[in-house]
Amino acid sequence: MRDRFGTDESLARKLDSDDPLASFRQKFYIPNGSIYMDGNSLGLLSEESESSVLRVMNEWKTLGIEGWLEAKRPWFYFAEELGAMCSSLVGAEPDEVVLSGTTTVNIHDLVNTFYEPRGKRKKIIADELDFPSDIYALRSILKLRGADPDKDLVLAPSADGRFLDEDRIVQMMDEDVAMVFLPSVLYRSGQLLDIQYLTKEAHRRDIPIGFDCCHSVGSVPHHFDKWGVDFALWCSYKYLNGGPGSTAFLYISKKHFDREPALAGWFGYVKDRQFGMSLNFEHSRSAGGWQISSPAILSSAPVEGSLRVIIEAGIENVREKSLRMTAYLIHLVDEILSKKPYGFSVGTPREDTRRGGHVAIEHDEGLRISEALRSRGVIPDFRPPNIIRIAPIPLYNTYQEVWQVAQHLKDIVDKKEYERFSKKRKAIS
Ligand SMILES: Cc1ncc(COP(=O)(O)O)c(C=O)c1O
Repeated sequence: MRDRFGTDESLARKLDSDDPLASFRQKFYIPNGSIYMDGNSLGLLSEESESSVLRVMNEWKTLGIEGWLEAKRPWFYFAEELGAMCSSLVGAEPDEVVLSGTTTVNIHDLVNTFYEPRGKRKKIIADELDFPSDIYALRSILKLRGADPDKDLVLAPSADGRFLDEDRIVQMMDEDVAMVFLPSVLYRSGQLLDIQYLTKEAHRRDIPIGFDCCHSVGSVPHHFDKWGVDFALWCSYKYLNGGPGSTAFLYISKKHFDREPALAGWFGYVKDRQFGMSLNFEHSRSAGGWQISSPAILSSAPVEGSLRVIIEAGIENVREKSLRMTAYLIHLVDEILSKKPYGFSVGTPREDTRRGGHVAIEHDEGLRISEALRSRGVIPDFRPPNIIRIAPIPLYNTYQEVWQVAQHLKDIVDKKEYERFSKKRKAIS
């Protein structure tokens, strides 16, 4: 049943006092005096992550190279172990997920693995609201594989610049299509696509399908095995709180373990024979086979601690609170901020089944309002042309903070405070 919210602060306090996840906030370092609403870009540091990093640093200090086998979690098996931990968040078996590389490198690795053009069947379907790096990677893959990116990358259109229509994407899946690669949650509007439906329809036409799940893993439960997804990849620095540039994850369905990894490297080799140093590549017939290089242990260490926190909280509980927090924020925008003179509107789906973990609040002065929020210690981010993204994170944000964000937005417009800020964007905002 849908919650019915009011606009009084007392409701926010009541929601916090009833919140079963409230105690998790104490585990996180909240930047001084801030209301941090940017965990969909960079999640915060937890004590658990800090301690897993410090442990690994100490192991390096005391064990040197022996850490590869003698560390508490031996570095040689670390990527597979963290993959197994993360598999429970995405509905996969432990050996179908591995911690490896970065999101964009994993796009190159997995799309190249599954892209098998034959005759006129050589197009890749993506979408016009995609994250730029995905499009850059897809175009360069098509070029390297002898296709024409201008013709062979087909982008599902959006009617309104916010949302995609799954049926429209399905209509595009014709006999010219060799692969579909889509985001799970759109990075601007926060729309959650119906992964199961898209996968079923792609497979009815014999088309492999993969997903960029950067904006959903750690926020939304996934069931990759049940849905039949062929492959997926996601970063660990957003909702997984793994730290800036932390190592990414990839998923390969076990039905594809016999494929050849497109970007082979020695860390994909059969584990117990890797150091046999054979020149004939034999991969491990698990997601681990898609690793390329020596794992970046220091960029992986925080992910161990942060996964422990999310697993302890339970991804279903995280999702339940996330939906309630975003619904509450949408309610406050509708009730307080949509009328004149405020002029804010919500550019995120209202249906729970179609919404990821953040809310896109649109305003013509979005850029300067974001800057005004920052100057008040509220950390959002801004995405052109007019979107203030607010991500209340179930593990460390409160309903009261959500309420306060709405009050800040109101006050900033009441006082025309945004006029003090430049219309020029900073390098990162
Ligand atoms: C949806 C999506 N895909 C890809 C990327 C690129 O990730 P990376 O810089 O880790 O390769 C990002 C980064 O924020 C993203 O949000």
